[in-house]
Amino acid sequence: MTEAPVRPVRRGEIATAIDAVAVQISSSTKLNRYPAVFQAVQQLCRAGGIARPHILSFGSSSGEEAHTLSTQYFAGSPILGLEVAEDVLAQSRESYGANPDLRFEKSGVYEPEPESFDVIFAMSVLCRWPETRNMTDIAQLFPFANFEKQTAYLDSLLKPGGIMVIYNASYGFLHSRTSRHYDLIAHPRITTAGFVKRFRKDGGEDPSVAPTDCVYRKQQANERIGARGLVIRDHALKPIAVIERDIAIG
Ligand SMILES: C[S@@+](CC[C@H](N)C(=O)[O-])C[C@H]1O[C@@H](n2cnc3c(N)ncnc32)[C@H](O)[C@@H]1O
Repeated sequence: MTEAPVRPVRRGEIATAIDAVAVQISSSTKLNRYPAVFQAVQQLCRAGGIARPHILSFGSSSGEEAHTLSTQYFAGSPILGLEVAEDVLAQSRESYGANPDLRFEKSGVYEPEPESFDVIFAMSVLCRWPETRNMTDIAQLFPFANFEKQTAYLDSLLKPGGIMVIYNASYGFLHSRTSRHYDLIAHPRITTAGFVKRFRKDGGEDPSVAPTDCVYRKQQANERIGARGLVIRDHALKPIAVIERDIAIG
């Protein structure tokens, strides 16, 4: 079967967060919520020679994630929190706004520069949880097309060579068209992609094993190997395997 060509998406075509619905409704968060992932990404940045990565905390809620990253993992890094809900956005500014490395803005209103981040954390935001816990089909509640739009938007903000983390998501990033120019990072510290139930592209329940993929690296232009192959990199960003993308995503 011939695969549809991947057409590069121009910036003007990308849905910004404002015309996409707010995804996750709950704003629950806490300090240092994902230590294994944060440590792994810290190590990946060192391996990539990025001393003070520019970081986006997408769905920053009341700011604990951005604060944790700034104070425990990425001292001196400029960190932007983008949040759609006004009440928690205000809380984040009040609690952590005095830190000069942190900035909190309204998602969909504030437009970051394209390809301006080295790392994007989209943690517990590209999902509907806990509503989907007992659902067998989420096509109406949270269609894959919405997930696809959000991931394309985040991709537009990430530098080539940058790290995308999509944890606790209702869909697998590797199912998206955007992921075709991403490598998968297999890091020994990361043994789960979160507790949120994942669904297939058609919205149906996915009975396969619990997913562990959640950290990806955006390819540089000269690293493209075609849409069918998936490069797997280790904790030092070294390519360790190339597999058929279709096999990897099932
Ligand atoms: C469960 S909290 C996660 C907070 C933090 N990332 C964490 O993992 O602890 C999800 C947050 O994402 C926000 N959110 C949902 N859709 C969003 C969008 N399109 N842009 C930015 N934030 C969004 C929600 O308002 C909510 O505060």
